Amino acid sequence: MTDAAQPQYKGPQRVFSGMQPTNGLHLGNYLGALQKFVRLQDHYECIYCIVDLHAITTGPDPENLASRCREVAAAYIAAGVDPKRSTIFIQSAVREHNELTWIFNCVARMGWVERMTQFKDKAGKDAQRSSVGLFDYPVLQAADILLYKATHVPVGEDQKQHLELSRDIAQKFNNDHNAPNFFPLPEPLIQGPGARIMSLRDGSKKMSKSDPSDMTRINLTDDADAIMSKIKKATTDAHPVPESKDGLEGRAEVENLVGIFAAVTERSVEDVLTEFGGKGFGVFKPALAETLAAKLSPIAAEMRRLTADTASLDAILKDGAEKAAAVAQPIMAEVRDVVGLWRA
Ligand code: TYM
Repeated sequence: MTDAAQPQYKGPQRVFSGMQPTNGLHLGNYLGALQKFVRLQDHYECIYCIVDLHAITTGPDPENLASRCREVAAAYIAAGVDPKRSTIFIQSAVREHNELTWIFNCVARMGWVERMTQFKDKAGKDAQRSSVGLFDYPVLQAADILLYKATHVPVGEDQKQHLELSRDIAQKFNNDHNAPNFFPLPEPLIQGPGARIMSLRDGSKKMSKSDPSDMTRINLTDDADAIMSKIKKATTDAHPVPESKDGLEGRAEVENLVGIFAAVTERSVEDVLTEFGGKGFGVFKPALAETLAAKLSPIAAEMRRLTADTASLDAILKDGAEKAAAVAQPIMAEVRDVVGLWRA
């Protein structure tokens, strides 16, 4: 595995991240990634992708794929990503993602990709029946990032291993082609209490769209009543909110709710414990639900407004694809030269 620092890399500092157009985003996607996307715009050039090529690794859905992409684009904008300042685009609209993936397929080692735990989780017991695309998913992710020579990648903690693989691919490409610092070694931005949001019912499981019970997650489009009911029914225990972090030990569900409160208000966990320590969940849960509803309701309303106007959304995505291609194409041309592919 690679070193964290790469002071020799002299290219621009650039943020890249993406989300799959799976049916509906949840609070984990928002706190683990989207909220950070918004904040990073003040400090970096940012490129945010909707990864439809990743979405088809688990099966086709031609009737809904495009509208699901639009919904994620609407979520980005509704949450505060500004399409004038940041680039928002759909992965398949920039064909070079595929080309760089092939080159990286020839750089990445089987053993590296076989270690990926997300593949093992998603493939389940019968990996032989998974698509080759699902196995190759993290190599496409590395291509997404490095096609823009991105230096920083805001993601949730579940993506840590994929980011390590991206760094290893970048490092091996640079070494193999005797091109030191050609690619940056992208740094994951994972820190903060939002990085790992857990199920509302089971603190050992990640909040996820694939959980069969909707009560385990807050969807970005849930209304205030649904949020209140899900938070009130969230698993806790008979003790009050602790006064310090030590008191969270062995109380995964309580730690999760306190972490959600901290992440959504952009405060520290200690700060939240100072306010609620010693109080019961009869006080804490309604306060959390109201805070969440106040944050998410305007986002849901704006998403509805944006998705109703397909033409405007498509214009933003077309403009985004052009801006993304303008960065990607010269880098891809350099890659072709470094690899030694024929050019007339
Ligand atoms: P996706 O769509 O599965 O997840 C999108 C983002 O949400 C984060 N996330 C969470 N964060 C905290 N707690 C949770 N329970 C939770 N669930 C999801 C994910 O970590 C992610 O940041 N493979 C990526 C998509 C991708 C990508 C990229 C990301 C494709 N190419 C290039 C960065 C750079 C993914 O997990 O998507």
